[in-house]
Amino acid sequence: MTPQRLETVQAAFHHRFSGQPSFTVRAPGRVNIIGEHTDYNKGFVLPCALDFDVIIAARPRADETFVMLSLSKDNAGETSFPVDNIEQSGPRWAQYIKGVAWALGQAGYDVRGMDLVIEGDVPISSGLSSSAALEIAAATAMAHAAGLKIPGPELALICQRAENEFVGVNSGIMDQFISAVGQEGHALFLDCNDLSHQHVPFDVEPDGLRLVVMNTCYKRSLKDSIYNDRVKECATAVEQLAKPIPGIKHLREVSWEQFLEYRDTLDEVPRKRAAHVISENQRVLDAVKAMASGDWMALGCLMDASHDSLQTDYEATGPHLDAMVEEARRIPGTIGSRMTGAGFGGCAVALVREDAVEQFTEQVSARYRERMNLEPGMYVVKAAAGAGIV
Ligand code: GLA
Repeated sequence: MTPQRLETVQAAFHHRFSGQPSFTVRAPGRVNIIGEHTDYNKGFVLPCALDFDVIIAARPRADETFVMLSLSKDNAGETSFPVDNIEQSGPRWAQYIKGVAWALGQAGYDVRGMDLVIEGDVPISSGLSSSAALEIAAATAMAHAAGLKIPGPELALICQRAENEFVGVNSGIMDQFISAVGQEGHALFLDCNDLSHQHVPFDVEPDGLRLVVMNTCYKRSLKDSIYNDRVKECATAVEQLAKPIPGIKHLREVSWEQFLEYRDTLDEVPRKRAAHVISENQRVLDAVKAMASGDWMALGCLMDASHDSLQTDYEATGPHLDAMVEEARRIPGTIGSRMTGAGFGGCAVALVREDAVEQFTEQVSARYRERMNLEPGMYVVKAAAGAGIV
């Protein structure tokens, strides 16, 4: 977050509501290094928070109304809602904030009216969790205004509920969790089954490497419904595997050996989905070891294998992400690359040698542009801090 963005938000608050905001919060987007489509299967993930974030300037009101002004480029506008009668209407960005107010209420917390000015620079619908950043920023603001100290993991669960039950996307816990608890210079190893987690040092610069996020700038409109289909297909895989392995509730509980033994009892689609999820969980465990020992070549190989599995078995990549990753892999200084986030469009991520970054961004952009007729985005990023009061 730059000082200019902070000033812009605070000046807009002054202009719209008169006077100063009582406080300002920020919550980041994230890039997932590895562990894709594993969270709702109660498996492992390894994301890190980014310097792209949502900023909210806030001031409690005397009544029970939320008045919200969004300055974000793609979602500018103003809307309001009463806390005691929250309806699923109005602009999409407002749904996330309403959903959070609703979910906090459901969790038994007292939510009061507020004036909010919201601004964000997380690319929207790009697999970098702009919606989780908005939810966690809103929840942080609401909790702070009410004098509540809600721990990050609980805040993440409340925001996940908002997304699942209010917005209607059956997402897992990864995005909200990393936005709430991320630490600068660290990735987060999270067990989505019991939410135990560990901050793993992740600073590749001293070893002459950079983390590059590549935005395909392709936004698939049916993304949410395809995502929900995958969640169902994994549930079907569990149902079918529960015949030979009674009592299992999630793919997380199935070992690779068990999968090999029983895969022929599965229908084709659930078999492919399970193959990805079960192998991806192992790749996360291996990636944590590689990261902890600075074995970047090993991490790169795991990232490559993750993309290939998401392409072939999970069918979550699509032509744009595949083209981007293919072009990234043609650059000799690329250590590993894969899609990140839900997929079907959005972003990919690569680990690249520093001395190759310029060639990487130029050539991958040019070749992608030529192939897909779309201008991509390239961002060199670092692991940033999680949400907080600014
Ligand atoms: C989206 C969801 C996450 C996770 C990823 C895929 O970002 O919000 O919960 O499922 O997709 O790994």
